[in-house]
Amino acid sequence: MNDQAKNLRKMLDMASNTEKETKVIAVVSGKGGVGKSNFCLNFAIELKKIDKEVLLFDLDIGMANVDILMGASAKHTIVDMIERELSIWDIIEKGPENLSFIAGGTGLSSMFQLNPRKLSRFLQQLELVNGKYDYIIFDMGAGVSKDSLHYILSANEVFVVTTPEPTSVTDAYAMIKYIQLKDQEIPISILVNRVDSIPEGKKTFENLKLVTNQFLQKEIRLLGIIPDDPTVLKAVKAQIPFVLHSSESKPSKAIQEIVLTYTGEKQDDVTPPFSTFINKFKKYFTER
Ligand SMILES: Nc1ncnc2c1ncn2[C@@H]1O[C@H](COP(=O)(O)OP(=O)(O)OP(=O)(O)O)[C@@H](O)[C@H]1O
Ligand SMILES: [Mg+2]
Repeated sequence: MNDQAKNLRKMLDMASNTEKETKVIAVVSGKGGVGKSNFCLNFAIELKKIDKEVLLFDLDIGMANVDILMGASAKHTIVDMIERELSIWDIIEKGPENLSFIAGGTGLSSMFQLNPRKLSRFLQQLELVNGKYDYIIFDMGAGVSKDSLHYILSANEVFVVTTPEPTSVTDAYAMIKYIQLKDQEIPISILVNRVDSIPEGKKTFENLKLVTNQFLQKEIRLLGIIPDDPTVLKAVKAQIPFVLHSSESKPSKAIQEIVLTYTGEKQDDVTPPFSTFINKFKKYFTER
C-alpha cells in the first residue's frame, strides 16, 4: 500500500512536469576500465546541477556498479523489473543531488536474451519515461556483444570513451567500426579520459578522427578531455562522485565544461527525440 502511494506520488510529480524531448546517450568503450561509469555519474550530476532531468541507467552486464560509485544502496534493480515485473517507477532510485538512477544488479546478462514477452514489457516500461527526462544515460559494459549492440544502436547518440593508451585507442576504433557497420547515421562523440595534458588529449582525438575518416568515412566529434588526476580514485574510495567530492579538481572542471559545451550545442542539434528511440529499439530487436 505504502509502495503504491509512493509510486502514484512519483507519477504525479513527473506528470506535472512539461513533456521533454528525451535524448538517450549510450556511453561505451572498447577497452574496459577507461572511466565510463565515473564519467556517466559525474556528467549526470553536473547536468542535474543545471536543472536538467536525468535518468542514469546502469546497463553494464554483470558488472553493474554505479550505485557503489555514489555510495547509494539500491533497493531494486533492473532485474526486478524484468524478472519480477515491477514497474519502472518502482526501480528508479535516488542518488546524490536527487539524481534518478536504475541500478544494474546481478544476473543482468539474462536481460540481453529477453524473450518476446519480457522484451515488450521492457519497451512498455521504457515508454513510460518518454518525455519525463531531458537525458537518459546508458552506462554500458566494455566491448560489445550482438545483444548489447541493440541497446547501443537504440540510443540517439553514442559517446565512446578512450584513454591516450594505444591499446585503448585501437579498441575504441574497433568499437566505432562495429557501430558504423550497423548504423551509419548515429552521431558518435569521443571522450578522451586520463590525459597528462590537453595537447595529448587533442592528439589522441585527431589520430582517431583521421583513421575513422579515412577507413570508415565516419565523422566523429570531440566531446571533451579529462585529465588523469588522483582525486578520481580518492572519490571512488570515498564512494562520492568526484564532482561533489572535489568540485575544484581538474576532472571536475573538465566535466563542468563538457556539460556547458554539450548543452550549449543543443540548439542546432538535429538528433531525433525519444519516440524514435523506441521505434529504433523495436526495429533492432525484430530484425534479429
Ligand atoms: N580521470 C581519471 N583520473 C584518474 N583515475 C581515473 C580517471 N578516470 C578513471 N580513473 C580510474 O579508473 C578506474 C575505473 O573507472 P570506471 O569504473 O569509471 O571505468 P569503466 O570504464 O566504467 O570500467 P568498466 O569497463 O569495468 O565498466 C576508477 O576507479 C579510477 O581509479
Ligand atoms: Mg563501468
